[in-house]
Amino acid sequence: MRQKLAAGNWKMNGLVSDLGMIDTLTSAHPKPSSEVLLCLPATLIAPAVQRFAKAPVSFGGQDCHAETSGAFTGDVSAAMLKDAGATHVILGHSERRTAYDEQDDAVRAKAQAVTAAGLTAIICVGESLEDREAAKTLDLIGGQMSGSIPDEATGGNFVLAYEPIWAIGTGLTPTMDQIAEVHDFMRAQLEDRFGEGIGQSVRLLYGGSVKPANADEIFAVPNVDGALVGGASLKAEDFGGIVKALDAAEG
Ligand code: 13P
Repeated sequence: MRQKLAAGNWKMNGLVSDLGMIDTLTSAHPKPSSEVLLCLPATLIAPAVQRFAKAPVSFGGQDCHAETSGAFTGDVSAAMLKDAGATHVILGHSERRTAYDEQDDAVRAKAQAVTAAGLTAIICVGESLEDREAAKTLDLIGGQMSGSIPDEATGGNFVLAYEPIWAIGTGLTPTMDQIAEVHDFMRAQLEDRFGEGIGQSVRLLYGGSVKPANADEIFAVPNVDGALVGGASLKAEDFGGIVKALDAAEG
């Protein structure tokens, strides 16, 4: 059984004064059956972990360096995120792949660092609209998966998120058939590479314009084990609605 995961990605949003949202969220959903995770700006992880130590929510980072320490001005290592109390780190988000030209091998090295630190890597893959229109979606995702996912990956240290670039922050979402096609493909690829046991145990998230209004139908898609939520994770009511839909989803 894969525990469902509602993961929020605050991106570069939020100050300490915004952490009250988490009080509202966890008061409204004190006993979620799903795992609830918020990937915060690095500056907010330690204050959030201290303030919400007893709440049913964990905290993660949004990127890290592949090295543990060293002369990398401005960067944060997986060990530092762990030290702050993080349990997960998002890696290879399309915003980083695009804006910072992060390639698969860099994502893979970061994922190895995250695993070595004892944290869980949430590796993101996804196609552009151009790729989809050229019918290259599955090829592209297969390539990102083989390039970005390290050999050490297991259901315990790794989560895979499908985030079509054209659905991020746009209000557009793929059809449920399109999500099912990609998620079935990702599951089959994982089973091929890692065997059925590990392949079946890895959680697959969908991300891209998830909101309470579309969460029920997305969570009914086979092989969707949760969501990676951007904009809607900033508002307690919206993210709470998504947690509620995930708790209610079957499978
Ligand atoms: P939105 O939910 O705002 O579309 O963002 C998705 C995302 O990028 C999560 O990582």
